Amino acid sequence: MELNQVMSTRRSIRAYKAGEGVSRETVEEILQAACLAPSWKNSQTARSYVVMEEPMLTRVRESCLPDFNQRNCHNAPVLIVTTFVKGRSGCDKEGNPSNELGDQWGAYDLGLRDAHLILKARDLGLDTLIMGIRDSEKLRELLHIPQEEQVAAVIALGYRDIDPQMPGRRELSETTVFC
Ligand SMILES: Cc1cc2nc3c(=O)[nH]c(=O)nc-3n(C[C@H](O)[C@H](O)[C@H](O)COP(=O)(O)O)c2cc1C
Repeated sequence: MELNQVMSTRRSIRAYKAGEGVSRETVEEILQAACLAPSWKNSQTARSYVVMEEPMLTRVRESCLPDFNQRNCHNAPVLIVTTFVKGRSGCDKEGNPSNELGDQWGAYDLGLRDAHLILKARDLGLDTLIMGIRDSEKLRELLHIPQEEQVAAVIALGYRDIDPQMPGRRELSETTVFC
């Protein structure tokens, strides 16, 4: 798909087709594209926990997401929990912050990586929903995510069952200053 078409047709999808699975090969292709994203000193601290088998899918959905997000990803065949290793991106070798943003650069890197992920998914005709409203401690417990990692989003992946309009965007003049 042409890049502009990928970007303009990507939507946050909150209804997925039941019974339409996604193969492990396709998930790996999407994650390979995500790995091409840049990161602080190429530190590559982003991590993914891919859930695509029952009963774990249902357990993650029902115990780690609030009701509205459970509904949003109800039939999604894949949930990808994304984390980043703390104290590396934005930090020197001793783990000291290199500037005032400190460890927040880890979240920045992860966001770039997840942007690649959701756009590659769209390129392959798939759809996604990034969910930042989730229970990080329950995810940590269920998926054995180490304390060294910061849990970020749960990303639903599957085939859209609705075709929502794009929510409005601010004018460039509201968000941009040409200096
Ligand atoms: C970091 C982040 C967290 C989000 N968390 C949620 C969420 O928990 N539940 C949800 O339904 N949408 C969530 N969204 C989706 C946004 O609401 C959505 O991206 C925004 O409304 C713009 O719509 P679009 O993605 O279709 O362009 C999240 C998006 C981002 C980037």
